Amino acid sequence: MPVELFGLKFPNPIGLAAGMDKGGGAVPAWEALGFGFSELGGITRHEQPGNPKPRMFRVVEDEALINRMGFNNPGADSMAERLRGWRDDNRWPSNPVGINLGKSKVTPLDEAPEDYLYSFQLLKNLADFFVVNVSSPNTPNLRQLQDKTALAGILDALQEANDSQRPILVKVAPDLGFDALDEILELIETHDLAGLVATNTTIARPDETEPVRAKLYAETGGLSGRPLAKRSTEVIRHLYRQTRGEVPLIGVGGIFTAEDAWEKITAGASLLQIYSSLVYEGPQINRALLNGLAKRLTNEGLTEIRDAVGIAS
Ligand SMILES: Cc1cc2nc3c(=O)[nH]c(=O)nc-3n(C[C@H](O)[C@H](O)[C@H](O)COP(=O)(O)O)c2cc1C
Repeated sequence: MPVELFGLKFPNPIGLAAGMDKGGGAVPAWEALGFGFSELGGITRHEQPGNPKPRMFRVVEDEALINRMGFNNPGADSMAERLRGWRDDNRWPSNPVGINLGKSKVTPLDEAPEDYLYSFQLLKNLADFFVVNVSSPNTPNLRQLQDKTALAGILDALQEANDSQRPILVKVAPDLGFDALDEILELIETHDLAGLVATNTTIARPDETEPVRAKLYAETGGLSGRPLAKRSTEVIRHLYRQTRGEVPLIGVGGIFTAEDAWEKITAGASLLQIYSSLVYEGPQINRALLNGLAKRLTNEGLTEIRDAVGIAS
């Protein structure tokens, strides 16, 4: 089920979401596990330890995760070295590799453009596409950078340095209202965005009275997995409608089954990513998702993923 998007060829539409391989330590593994692409990072200009442990919690019954990792990562310099290492050893995957860029915790918000730019300059020739992450709930005030003016400042800096014209996408939070999403959409043309990744984790929580689960849901951090699926699909549908399907969307949030994947695609996503379901189901999930999607396409009388994108928007 190949997909061609923003000038790149994806052998299948299921990718590894950001946050699993934060430092590019396992780059060839993702293709070997059947992913059609991977997104490394979030990487920041400065190396960071992240928040103190425990910082990741499983709500097993709900197949959900709550994390407040806080961008633990080896820093852009170190990542660049690792990526060169994979290439020098001839172990670079043939599938597209993206890099998720975050802001260092020590960098004040008004210096964010320089922080993102530093990482981008170092890494821009080492990966196929880039995702500006302004939507993690775990770096204080980071999500304020989703404000149109602040985001424009970051994108100006990156595009000015983008001499090899790498696709640059923005990853949005599921907690943004439709008005705020529409403001971000206004930057697509002015800042030559290749697309959007929807969505990051949510700070919202399901209503839960059962004490063990209620205690877990009270943990600070971003919620991912099954409880995120519905909202993330709503955001995708909104973005697809507003852009009349003209802007590539990568759908992520609570995809566990082929049915979940189908919902995201038909709401408007051209590519998908998973994180939590990989944790709960293991890597065989890729085969299940791809086989299920292939069957669904056939049943609907369609031949390619792109024929299904947005048909239920
Ligand atoms: C432990 C953990 C770390 C994450 N780190 C990042 C990150 O560094 N950058 C980012 O954009 N998203 C990060 N995410 C969010 C995921 O990429 C994804 O958007 C989210 O988990 C929803 O997908 P899922 O329901 O399939 O897990 C992280 C998620 C988890 C669970």
